[in-house]
Amino acid sequence: MKKLLFSLCMFFMLSISAIEAQVANYDVVPLPKSVNQSSAASFVLSESSSIIYPEGNADMQRNAQFLSDYVNEMTKLRLGKRSMGGKENAAKVGQGNILLALDAKIKNDEGYTINVTDKGVIIRGKTPAGVFLGIQTFRKALPVVKVKPQVVTLPAVNIVDEPRFGYRGMHLDCARHFFTVDFVKEYIDLIALHGMNRFHWHLTEDQGWRIEINKYPRLTEVGAWRSGTTIGRNSGVDDGIPYGGFYTQDECHEIVKYAAERYITVIPEIDMPGHMLAALAAYPELGCTGGPYEVEHTWGIFADVLCPGKEETFKFIEGVLDEVVSIFPSEYIHIGGDECPRDRWAECPLCQQRIVQESLKPEGKQTKEDLLQGYFARRVEKYLHAKGKKLIGWDEILSCNVDRTSTIMSWRGAAPGAEAAKLGHDVIMTPTNPMYFDYYQTENTRHEPLAIGGLETVKDVYAFEPIAADLTAEDAHHILGVQANLWTEYVAVPHHVEYQVLPRMAALAEVQWLKPDQKDYDAFIVRLKRLKEIYDLHQWTVAQHVFR
Ligand code: ACM
Ligand code: ZN
Repeated sequence: MKKLLFSLCMFFMLSISAIEAQVANYDVVPLPKSVNQSSAASFVLSESSSIIYPEGNADMQRNAQFLSDYVNEMTKLRLGKRSMGGKENAAKVGQGNILLALDAKIKNDEGYTINVTDKGVIIRGKTPAGVFLGIQTFRKALPVVKVKPQVVTLPAVNIVDEPRFGYRGMHLDCARHFFTVDFVKEYIDLIALHGMNRFHWHLTEDQGWRIEINKYPRLTEVGAWRSGTTIGRNSGVDDGIPYGGFYTQDECHEIVKYAAERYITVIPEIDMPGHMLAALAAYPELGCTGGPYEVEHTWGIFADVLCPGKEETFKFIEGVLDEVVSIFPSEYIHIGGDECPRDRWAECPLCQQRIVQESLKPEGKQTKEDLLQGYFARRVEKYLHAKGKKLIGWDEILSCNVDRTSTIMSWRGAAPGAEAAKLGHDVIMTPTNPMYFDYYQTENTRHEPLAIGGLETVKDVYAFEPIAADLTAEDAHHILGVQANLWTEYVAVPHHVEYQVLPRMAALAEVQWLKPDQKDYDAFIVRLKRLKEIYDLHQWTVAQHVFR
């Protein structure tokens, strides 16, 4: 009897402590702009609570479903959801529930508020996107439970939040290595979890063309496949194993929709006129020499590029862009423009004829071939403008006289971005240091997976300030935001992608979201430990250096 009583007592105490532990914590990543927690009575969340959203609003209904799924994933509680009709009283309906609402008084399109009282929770956003971002914060505040509790306690709080930058991106190179649609969706889930809103999808490279283009079927019949891959860092030894893959247009639409449901815009990149060997292997007539060419096995920069002397090259690019534009609703199309050698252009009679026709004359440090890339980029930009799209290019396009209307992605450091902003270009900051997540993340690389080189710790990422001190307020206005890139020469499988980006994405999220005076690395690391519980819940592969 005594034994039974003791066991019952122990069971009771353990149950109480399990219940007591289920308390929300608003120390999330990225940290909201203002979190006012009070000692007023908490809200007690249980399965008798519902998620309520405005009637007839499909976006808000989807938001409610996301919230219901997140609550279930974190706490194992499953909340019902229902819409609220126009005549119902929000205050009354909200009692005991989580209310999702639109509020035109919130200024920022992505701004939101979260109000928790003992009566219930209200997440308000100016737009459904703002509500979704509020839901992400709410989700991250919930405890990760092992055993389903009766209730979760939410301390009373008033959160008011908006992001610092409108462009908050992550890139993934799906060309050096190919990743499945399912994994791309998982990557988009990561982007959403971190409060980001752009997915820069790098779709073409020397080593593989990854998007189906109906007008040019050989791009994927031939260009999506290589007959082998170099081992390691261009070791001279090839694995001889055929490798490839591509996304059908239906799959691209599926990715665009999946991202849009999470308020993430997919920006496709078709890298031109360099990094085009896969396309040249399919259509050799587009190169200066006419080939033959092969889909590349090694990593680097290659002399064979598109020939801007030929009209058919522009016909090809326009045909490709017609289909790209029809798939991706993004206002931006990325046309690459990086690492384009001039060797073939200098020798090609048609390129030289174009240079003469267009009166391209060397100016200062710019060669006539540099200006030929400018001619190429301007022509492509004009085509995109006619289709209502804007052009983004890597910062090399700055040195070939492109128009101010083109947006510059600053990768060779932050200086080209600052220079571009002073010239009046919009800019996205993604400097190699510290925004190239293909770099190592620790000095001691002995037990690390092979990386391209370099060193970018979580702390380095966190410390990055995208707006250079010497920019005027007007110049600074041109810095649209920040992005990190993951190139995949050495990253072939999903768990390695996760390892490269987690937890550096968390540091990036605070660079993108917080004003500099709100940043605090030590406090961030404490918050990050809570975010890691969500990474672990999903069984994502996470670099451990900052958790040791
Ligand atoms: C780049 O890393 N070549 C943009
Ligand atoms: Zn040429």
